[in-house]
Amino acid sequence: MAKIIVVTSGKGGVGKTTSSAAIGTGLALKGHKTVIIDFDVGLRNLDLIMGCERRVVYDFVNVINKEATLSQALIKDKRTKDLFILPASQTRDKDALTIEGVQEVLEELSKEFDYILCDSPAGIEKGAQMALYFADAAIVVTNPEVSSVRDSDRILGILQSKSKRAEENKEPIEEYLLLTRYHPGRVALGEMLSVSDVEDILAIPLLGVIPESEAVLKASNQGTPVILDTASEAGIAYSDAVDRLMGEERPLRFLDVQKKGFIKRLLGG
Ligand SMILES: Nc1ncnc2c1ncn2[C@@H]1O[C@H](COP(=O)(O)OP(=O)(O)OP(=O)(O)O)[C@@H](O)[C@H]1O
Ligand SMILES: [Mg+2]
Repeated sequence: MAKIIVVTSGKGGVGKTTSSAAIGTGLALKGHKTVIIDFDVGLRNLDLIMGCERRVVYDFVNVINKEATLSQALIKDKRTKDLFILPASQTRDKDALTIEGVQEVLEELSKEFDYILCDSPAGIEKGAQMALYFADAAIVVTNPEVSSVRDSDRILGILQSKSKRAEENKEPIEEYLLLTRYHPGRVALGEMLSVSDVEDILAIPLLGVIPESEAVLKASNQGTPVILDTASEAGIAYSDAVDRLMGEERPLRFLDVQKKGFIKRLLGG
């Protein structure tokens, strides 16, 4: 039986797809057979970030509509063993996903995989609700700013009231906070919320803090999940987050303002 993890946020553009690609890759690197499903119907970002866009022939909606089998639609990742991607459809029909259809696909994937990661679309409406409905755990991706924290709080309300686990009065969805695009310098200037500000408001366990990093854009332009850039702070921070997801203890890093080096100070840079 697979564990189903939704990567969600409420607010758009906070780093859900970046995080799904990184964490999915991290789980597979640990030897867990993992599939990442792109629930963002119409946009198809995940396959770009994973660098497999040219290999997409069939997608999630084709499988639901029985136009293709799962094995036809699943794309095997070219770099990481044990990792697969189920791409989103480019249809404009936002109602292409149905609860029954999604359930059938998840049940079939559950037999084969250890982890199913659901990359949610933005918002708190139907598409986002579909992505979280069957989840066992949720990674709530949040940026250190008021509007993002507010929308994360809304999505926590939905996880606790509109998921299958909530409806059936089962053990609640495990919730984890992933704080992304963290900029210690701007936090120190009071322009952004601190880790403890966000923790106080959302009050869920902290899975990790991913620093704002140019490595993320570089990796996504190359179609490589940033966790494979093991020299980058963002890559290392995602790796720590995956370890924590596995129950390992890892201290937080990259939270302090970086002091300018001696040479830079000497040169007045
Ligand atoms: N840690 C980071 N440092 C710098 N840029 C980042 C970081 N995380 C994400 N980004 C950038 O933010 C933008 C949005 O990221 P991403 O597509 O992962 O967000 P999303 O939540 O999936 O968006 P959507 O809601 O549209 O699906 C991208 O340009 C990405 O490169
Ligand atoms: Mg996305």
